[in-house]
Amino acid sequence: MAHPSMIDAARLFVAALGLAAVAGAAAQSPASPPPDAGQATEQTARKIAPPLNNQKMWSEVRSGRPQTTSVRGRETDVLMQPQGQTWRAVRPPIATAGGMLLALVLLGLAGYYAWRGPITLHGKKTGRMIERFPPLKRYIHWTMALTFVALAISGLIITFGKTLLLPLIGATLFSWLATFAKFVHNFTGPVFSVALVVFIVLFIRDNLLRAYDLKWIAKFGGMLDKSGNTHVPSGKFNAGEKALFWGLVVVLSMVLVVTGYILNFPNFDQTRATMQVANIVHMVAALLAVAMACFHIYLGTVGMQGALDAMRTGYVDETWAREHHEYWYNDVKAGRIPSTVAADAAGQYAS
Ligand code: HEM
Repeated sequence: MAHPSMIDAARLFVAALGLAAVAGAAAQSPASPPPDAGQATEQTARKIAPPLNNQKMWSEVRSGRPQTTSVRGRETDVLMQPQGQTWRAVRPPIATAGGMLLALVLLGLAGYYAWRGPITLHGKKTGRMIERFPPLKRYIHWTMALTFVALAISGLIITFGKTLLLPLIGATLFSWLATFAKFVHNFTGPVFSVALVVFIVLFIRDNLLRAYDLKWIAKFGGMLDKSGNTHVPSGKFNAGEKALFWGLVVVLSMVLVVTGYILNFPNFDQTRATMQVANIVHMVAALLAVAMACFHIYLGTVGMQGALDAMRTGYVDETWAREHHEYWYNDVKAGRIPSTVAADAAGQYAS
């Protein structure tokens, strides 16, 4: 049997071994640091400016102060053009507003057609035809109209395609369509601009404002009278058509042509800022122009009986002329407009 003092010595030895092991383990692991306020501040700062996010440098680049670049030209020493961000941000809301305007116009026209139907003639057709547009005027109208429609469709694809068409037709077809639309738009624009200038020269005289146009405006040409009994006489073109001529053809289309050239030919040393402004103005003018053209195309096709004949064949029935453009009709009958010749239904000249 072991002596009690020996047992005590053994216990002491085991305890000493345990203590030594704990002390050794503690010596292996690093000491836990005391809480440090400076470190917390550094971590917060890193969240704001993590490595590689050189916020100071980019602020300097975007400040607009001249930097050093190897580009030679009007934008020498512009590293990054800060207005580009503004341009990118203002485009979507403008496009959305324009899209809503177009949708409203189309709904309004569908509603008007459902309510009123086509504007028909009251009297019987006489079969005697009056020349309204000689061939040159018709060809130039159709060149302008067809190029305008091509520009409108391709422009709408460029503006709204990514949002509306891409989810429907997929990336492959959409990329093909978008590229095609861009080419159509870029090459048709100059053709439209030439047709536009010739059109303005040929049509301006008949679109000068006259006192009687005020009567047409006051009664809105009888367009809101469902019975069609409100008769408002007008010259060769009524005030609505004159508004179309000055608003759509002269103002909006000229704005589109000028801004279109700025965008189509970036090689004339124009700055990015000029192109950004041109792009926004182009978009606003285009959406307004397409909205306005919808009214005209509606009246020129399904909205008014006999209107399309004028632009298709160049001739209108005497009844149509009297009911829609009475002053012009009177002038033709009285021979005060020498260029306009009466013809019979077969298009044979009477004189
Ligand atoms: C593509 C569809 C179009 C159709 C079916 C169409 C139809 C017509 C018709 C029938 C007329 C003769 C109206 C009358 O005898 O009084 C006319 C005239 C006219 N069209 Fe169009 N048109 C179209 C596109 C356009 C476009 C896109 C523009 C302008 C960008 C335009 C501008 C004019 C102007 C200014 C007149 C003569 C009215 C005036 O000078 O006041 N047309 N059109």
